[in-house]
Amino acid sequence: MAERHLIGLLLGAEEDWPSVFEELAARVGPITWRGERHELATERISIGPFDLRARPRHALVIDRLAHWYYVPREWLKKVALMDDIYLLNNPFTFQSMEKHAAYCGMLRLGLKVPETWLIPHKRPPVDDRFAYTASKYNTPFDLPEIARRIGYPLYMKPFDGGAWVGVTRIANEAELVARYEESGRRLMHLQAAVDFDVFARSLTIGAETLVVRFDPGRPMYDRYQVAHGFLAPETGWEVETIGRLVNAFFRWEFNSCETLVRGDEVFPIDYANASPDVSITSLHYYFPWAMRTLLKWCAFCTVTRRAMNVNQDSRPYHAFADRDDLAYDEKLASYRALAEEYFQTEAYEEFCAEALPHVDELVVDYVESRAFDDLLVRTVTDTFPAHEHERFVPHYRGLLEAWVGDQRAAATA
Ligand SMILES: Nc1ncnc2c1ncn2[C@@H]1O[C@H](COP(=O)(O)OP(=O)(O)O)[C@@H](O)[C@H]1O
Ligand SMILES: [Mg+2]
Repeated sequence: MAERHLIGLLLGAEEDWPSVFEELAARVGPITWRGERHELATERISIGPFDLRARPRHALVIDRLAHWYYVPREWLKKVALMDDIYLLNNPFTFQSMEKHAAYCGMLRLGLKVPETWLIPHKRPPVDDRFAYTASKYNTPFDLPEIARRIGYPLYMKPFDGGAWVGVTRIANEAELVARYEESGRRLMHLQAAVDFDVFARSLTIGAETLVVRFDPGRPMYDRYQVAHGFLAPETGWEVETIGRLVNAFFRWEFNSCETLVRGDEVFPIDYANASPDVSITSLHYYFPWAMRTLLKWCAFCTVTRRAMNVNQDSRPYHAFADRDDLAYDEKLASYRALAEEYFQTEAYEEFCAEALPHVDELVVDYVESRAFDDLLVRTVTDTFPAHEHERFVPHYRGLLEAWVGDQRAAATA
């Protein structure tokens, strides 16, 4: 008898990737690891009242919902604290870690986050106590003076950002004053703009990282660029290391990271995205990689019973960060080693070789299948207005066919 591991999905509006993930989990079949047979099952989790003492049936939960919906978030906390369920991601590790905290965490480690200031709200918090506190303790400040110190152009963006909401590029003092006025009750950062050569976005799922060339100026369907070898190998390694370091440090296992590359320097700007967009229409060519890796990581965590800690442990990183005798590169190499240890990269690779040798081909076969094409067409027609279907269906088909072709070529090379 195979041991069954139930993977729960906490979902919002998305239908595309969950259907693909469910299909792949069903197709992977019983897997054998160290002589024991295991099976993966999936279930979409429904939300309702729950007894805090109830025992959930899941081994692992993938969450795309708790960042805005608190009922599932509180359920996730319960199952993390009481039932040792493996969570992608664990809400304890990101609830207090908005963009601001993520900047602070990585600044201490010496990463090249551009100069960033936190600015008090334009409109104060609604609280009876505010007037008294502010009159006594808030110091007046000269916003244009801070901006001059940072230098123009600069970005004003919410301290807890996400999805580009409220992000503006500011060229001069008049714009600064206008944007600050509009910021209202949102707490904002001012950040030096990086004049970059390449925007590299990485997606890290467990022990694997994919680095993709990204063009933020393009429409959603065309932001991820199909490009290989667009970074010098050392820079590619650095971008990958930053993505894994961020995740290992904060214990996020499903996250994306935005870095701006200028010359041979890498500036991370946005990497607290622990509920990353993995839709087919955004990732296109890279979508099968994401599904395959998610499947492998879920299999690894459940079958090997990888333990999830509720808390972070930043001390080992600080031990390197605080050393004056180590250069940036040496620190990165040390962090990289800590990250690989955290993700059990070697054990993961061995597990994939032993238990999942058929998965790469299985995913290629599925992406080539009629069933996948039907889903692709359904997703594209649901996403784009009718007059664009004729253009976008072949567009996406072409990108996924190219991925299949590249995989087949790599397999026979
Ligand atoms: N310091 C910066 N230098 C250059 N471009 C930036 C900078 N900060 C933000 N941007 C641009 O603005 C976009 C949105 O900012 P980001 O920090 O990613 O916010 P969000 O969390 O809303 O995605 C980025 O993808 C990038 O294109
Ligand atoms: Mg961003």
